[in-house]
Amino acid sequence: MSIAGVVPAAGRGERLGPGEPKALRLLAGRPLLVYAVRALSVAQLIDIIVVAAPPDRVPAVRALLCAADLGARASAEVHVVSGGMTRQLSVRAALDHVPDEVDAVLVHDAARPLAPSELVDAVARAVRGGLPAVVPGLPVSDTVKRVGADGVVTDTVDRATLRAVQTPQGFRRDVLYAAHQRAAEQSGGPPVTDDAGLVERLGVPVHVIPGSEEAFKVTTPLDVTFAEALLAVRRGADVC
Ligand code: CTP
Ligand code: MG
Repeated sequence: MSIAGVVPAAGRGERLGPGEPKALRLLAGRPLLVYAVRALSVAQLIDIIVVAAPPDRVPAVRALLCAADLGARASAEVHVVSGGMTRQLSVRAALDHVPDEVDAVLVHDAARPLAPSELVDAVARAVRGGLPAVVPGLPVSDTVKRVGADGVVTDTVDRATLRAVQTPQGFRRDVLYAAHQRAAEQSGGPPVTDDAGLVERLGVPVHVIPGSEEAFKVTTPLDVTFAEALLAVRRGADVC
């Protein structure tokens, strides 16, 4: 089975504050995108990687990834395409570039730079084993409440049934294509922030496997601090 990694990396990073697009901001001196692509390229089961870059940075991202150290075990080919106005459109643009022979696709956010390559392989194995859609998820540790427009709590959600889902998310290629096709035809409704959300609308079961705390998303400046601290721990343990 041939498996592609698709990396949406075209976001602005507005919640990080002014500066470069998020995928190009530095963590311990290297762009987030380089870490995220390395997680896929070091994984054993990924054959090709397609990155959706900010539209005005395509040549720069190509040059960056050509020059980057993507890991001693890196074997996947890396392609760079122009991303879109939304995450969904960026994934779609990268999917359109995935070669015909690919059977399964893992979508991995550039904004999750420190996802372990073991997690990538765990998702890839689950899809290779026959599941149509697989997401990593973690139990939720906060108490979660639903709140009305008036700021008053309407109810408390049973935490035991919740999972905070991450990327990489893995899909049979035909399933992911069908989900994006349907989404392109039917705009409207609440925003869908991940690919599994589009697959759920098709009625295809989405399986959850254990996620990794290290696959957290860099969204705010505090997340950059966490990520640099984790990198320092990994370097101390001689793992990067
Ligand atoms: N993304 C993308 N194309 C877009 C918007 C987002 O490829 N038009 C990607 C981001 O680069 C990121 C992932 O989708 O890797 C998750 O998005 P998010 O964390 O929201 O990143 P940003 O959109 O960059 O951040 P913000 O919402 O704070 O601007
Ligand atoms: Mg965003």
